[in-house]
Amino acid sequence: RTLRIGLIPGDGIGREVIPAGRRILEALPSSLNLNFSFVDLDAGFETFQKTGAALPDRTVEVLKKECDGALFGAVSSPTVATKGYSSPIVALRKRLSLYANVRPVKTVSTAASPVDLVIVRENTEDLYVKEEKTYAAPDGTKVAEAIKRISEKASWNIASMAGDIALRRQKIRDQGVDSIHKEPLVTITHKSNVLSQTDGLFRETSRKALAQDKYSSVKVEEQIVDSMVYKLFRQPSDYDVIVAPNLYGDILSDGAAALVGSLGLVPSANVGEGFAIGEPCHGSAPDIQGMGIANPIATLRSVGLMLEFLGEEKAAATIYAAVDKNLVEGKLLTPDMGGKSKTDEVVEDILKML
Ligand code: NAI
Ligand code: MG
Repeated sequence: RTLRIGLIPGDGIGREVIPAGRRILEALPSSLNLNFSFVDLDAGFETFQKTGAALPDRTVEVLKKECDGALFGAVSSPTVATKGYSSPIVALRKRLSLYANVRPVKTVSTAASPVDLVIVRENTEDLYVKEEKTYAAPDGTKVAEAIKRISEKASWNIASMAGDIALRRQKIRDQGVDSIHKEPLVTITHKSNVLSQTDGLFRETSRKALAQDKYSSVKVEEQIVDSMVYKLFRQPSDYDVIVAPNLYGDILSDGAAALVGSLGLVPSANVGEGFAIGEPCHGSAPDIQGMGIANPIATLRSVGLMLEFLGEEKAAATIYAAVDKNLVEGKLLTPDMGGKSKTDEVVEDILKML
């Protein structure tokens, strides 16, 4: 099988880590029978300054027409409001209907407080439909309102995706990838005790979706979002897959990223029907740009995640195992991890482990 992958480095260290993503794809063992072709695509602030568009139409067209998946580095946001600029990754999610944001957070199982969980965030609705208005109260003071929209369809889709991910994580564990879990678990997060209609619908629909026969081996639990935050920080090892509506998912996923040593370790994927974009969750890191010391692991794990969604679990497991091995040995690490190695040295080490 040959997969065509769009490479969108973006700005700053995006240009240092996306090449590492390409290298690991090219270095995968030939026994996997996987080949890749690549196409370089533009997006980001520098692209905006050059062309007036942060996300050129060509980038979207090529992704739609030619590519099976893509890797997105990071983009810089202007520090002052800039006319005509809007975030290219937000636009990409919309234009490619990437309705889920998936963020695994993992330490090695021998860590003092081990974590191995993934947050599956609905990415099209909830309060982020951006339907807001401001009006005057009878006494003349201002009132602002926002719509929180939850649909049965989107809730069903995201909960089913969480079920699929739980099953796949089990398969990957069965291939010998290090983990603290033994069986698949999905935790539905909501606040339906207060928002009985919106979060109530999310909860009820997620329950139904996860009751499908195909998920019979998946244990399903629920957690009210505020107590979820408490437990996530007290006892993160209790969680495997967490599914949440957009806003809670956004907050939980940034919070969960704080459970591991560095932003440079945390991957993500933007996923739709048959398409996935792997994206390290860090930004363009201007403070270390050009120094050759960006941690490539978030990107390498994002490559694994993209491959999972393209149906290539085995290749994904191979990458995860190699990254874990580098971390367990702990000899070649970038400075954010307390090491002295350069990006390329870490990549070489991980390629050797493949
Ligand atoms: P950042 O994630 O770029 O950096 C935060 C800190 O973490 C910095 O000290 C940086 O050196 C460090 N860091 C991040 N990734 C690292 C890696 N791979 N290896 C080693 N150290 C790493 O966030 P910051 O500084 O708030 O934002 C910088 C720029 O990135 C801004 O323009 C921001 O808008 C943009 N940004 C873009 C995102 C995206 O493209 N999805 C996400 C977050 C921020
Ligand atoms: Mg966020």
